[in-house]
Amino acid sequence: MILVTGGAGFIGSHTCVALAQAGQPFLIFDNFSNSRRSVLDRLAQITGAPVPCVEGDVRDEALLARVLADHAITGVIHFAAFKAVGESVAQPLRYYDNNVAGTVALLRAMQAAGVRTLVFSSSATVYGDPASLPVREDFPTSATNPYGWSKLMMEQVLADVDASEPGQWRIARLRYFNPVGAHASGLIGEDPQDVPNNLAPYVAQVVAGWREALSVYGNDYPTSDGTGVRDYIHVCDLAEGHVAALRYLRAHPGLLTVNLGTGRPVSVLEMVRGFERASGRPVPYRIAPRRPGDVAACWADPSLAERLLGWRASRDLDSICTDAWRWQDGVARSLRG
Ligand code: UD1
Repeated sequence: MILVTGGAGFIGSHTCVALAQAGQPFLIFDNFSNSRRSVLDRLAQITGAPVPCVEGDVRDEALLARVLADHAITGVIHFAAFKAVGESVAQPLRYYDNNVAGTVALLRAMQAAGVRTLVFSSSATVYGDPASLPVREDFPTSATNPYGWSKLMMEQVLADVDASEPGQWRIARLRYFNPVGAHASGLIGEDPQDVPNNLAPYVAQVVAGWREALSVYGNDYPTSDGTGVRDYIHVCDLAEGHVAALRYLRAHPGLLTVNLGTGRPVSVLEMVRGFERASGRPVPYRIAPRRPGDVAACWADPSLAERLLGWRASRDLDSICTDAWRWQDGVARSLRG
């Protein structure tokens, strides 16, 4: 049984679907601080079976110890963390406590229980402003905000734990590029509880008529059309990358660090056009100043993941936008009753 911390969240819930598809039993561990309980019913609908869940916080080491023992857990996929950059600047202690101390508590409970297989949610944010593109795993890392530092610190904790008991641990640090899209059923997707910070959910809400217009943060970057360029990866591709990483770890002890991206650069305006095609509606936008802290461009070299894991992203920009729009439209309809 695989324990999925943060399994009710955006990437976690899609990974549960991928685990179910692979025939891998799992147990969700989530405190629902940034997700909804209704996700469990929706996951049950998609997978055709009830979805087991323990409600709890990863900083609760005693509860984790009980869960690891009671459910014969053999490995953990660890998503539970805060992820808003701006909020991390305003509330660094909250971020370090939840993200870093939470990971330490999880690792202590795992070590005590003899569970030493972990797939960890890292981020391309650890590359900062990359000196060249595409980004490879051996590029230098840096951070400019507490969220990014928390990811780097957690990566370091994992490397040190691996080195302290050589050959005992099986750890994958997965560096995600920009996760977007939604499950094709329209039943699960990204569900921001506030004004979205990220591009895709914001555009989706503009298309739905919830927001007037997109602010495009800068059109004077040295990119194809002047707007920021990123590597947007369909969340279902990303989810399948976790299953591939688990499979890899079964045969390979030690520490693995891989990018999960598509290798395909997409600009803000290309994303806007994608949503227009998917929805058949215009996306009103205005050019705004650059957002502080943004880099001009960032996309992955995904070849290591392909070589080691036998995994590559297969869904294109149109399916990203179609699936994201189907989900957003469904949310809008259900709120209208
Ligand atoms: C952001 C975070 C990153 C985090 C990632 C999670 C910042 C500075 N970085 O990355 O640490 O790991 O989310 O997915 O917040 N854009 C607009 N208008 C908007 C929103 C975004 O033009 O309303 C542009 C941005 O300038 C950027 C692109 O869209 O060029 C993508 O932005 P976003 O979705 O926020 O992702 P990142 O900035 O790559």
